[in-house]
Amino acid sequence: MPPGSPLIVLGIESSCDDTAAAVLADGRVLSNVVAGQDVHARWGVVPELASRAHQEHIVPTVQEALRKAGIARGDIDVVAFTQGPGLIGALLVGACFARSLAQALGKPLVAVDHVRAHVLAHFIRDDAERESPRFPFINLTVSGGHTQLVLVRGPLDMMVIGTTLDDAAGEAFDKGAKLLGLSYPGGPLIDRHARDGDADRFHLPMPDVPGLDMSFSGIKTAFAQLVRKEQARDESFIGRELPHLCASLQRHIVRILMLKLRDAAHAHGVSTIGIAGGVSANSLLRSEATRLTAQEGWRLHLPPFAYCTDNAAMIAMAGDLLFRAGRIAGLDTVPVARW
Ligand code: KG4
Ligand code: ZN
Repeated sequence: MPPGSPLIVLGIESSCDDTAAAVLADGRVLSNVVAGQDVHARWGVVPELASRAHQEHIVPTVQEALRKAGIARGDIDVVAFTQGPGLIGALLVGACFARSLAQALGKPLVAVDHVRAHVLAHFIRDDAERESPRFPFINLTVSGGHTQLVLVRGPLDMMVIGTTLDDAAGEAFDKGAKLLGLSYPGGPLIDRHARDGDADRFHLPMPDVPGLDMSFSGIKTAFAQLVRKEQARDESFIGRELPHLCASLQRHIVRILMLKLRDAAHAHGVSTIGIAGGVSANSLLRSEATRLTAQEGWRLHLPPFAYCTDNAAMIAMAGDLLFRAGRIAGLDTVPVARW
């Protein structure tokens, strides 16, 4: 790399059901391509189908990312990939591709933790000038696989201070949606139907979890019992009450997240808040987080939607920071399903 030229990082993401590739130059996005997989709409993510779709998508997705970035393969300085956590077969596709590419190009390989990368999405730069959060901040990472409160003291200095004891918040949305006959991923559909609903119509129990940890499996069970009981009595129940069911479930999940987020910030004396992960696209979560932080006089950082759901720009961002910290991975690095 000639002195003074930007560090070009190719990021590759394949942990779940999106094949993604992105190119960043010194943290600035040159391209960010995501190939979704519609094969999961009916049943939710089927690991075997996901791996096969990744195999089909990986080469064209990376090619598209390079084309959009306007660079050639030889311009890549670092190859970063998601090492885990995620579906092992899906991770393997990205890992094998990234390792082979790094070897063929003779360029360094960097292995990225997907959940930390969601937090580092705050530092991605694009044309819209946004301020990155100042350290320390508390990040609420909410996705389909993870729900964590993280104390972030530096780009590579993170401590999990609260976590779900069972299901992730996104999983609660997705499972609730499935019960209502909505397709996968259900979170965005719940969000949409909830707009016309009355969140007070149905009562769900508040989980009693001490400290900063959370639980969402009880809500799912209570919601399932409520729906099944009413549906058995009246077959048109879901059709009639859909917006209210969605609004009630959504408000409940968001309320738990906001209570824990507030407690976390108070407990650690932190006044800068970040939210990341796919569920941060939720409109109620966004408005409630905005309200809470305004009320408390805190600063809120919400990355744009494209960097909230699974994407490779965050993997490339993490790759940039890890590379600069000297964290180069061996070409024999294997994926890890559980971090
Ligand atoms: O971060 P992400 O793309 O993948 C994981 O790492 O899991 O998050 C996907 C999750 C899914 O559970 C999806 O239902 C949820 O994010 N999600 C939403 C919304 N958009 C995506 N949940 C609620 N409201 C939304 N608008
Ligand atoms: Zn994710």
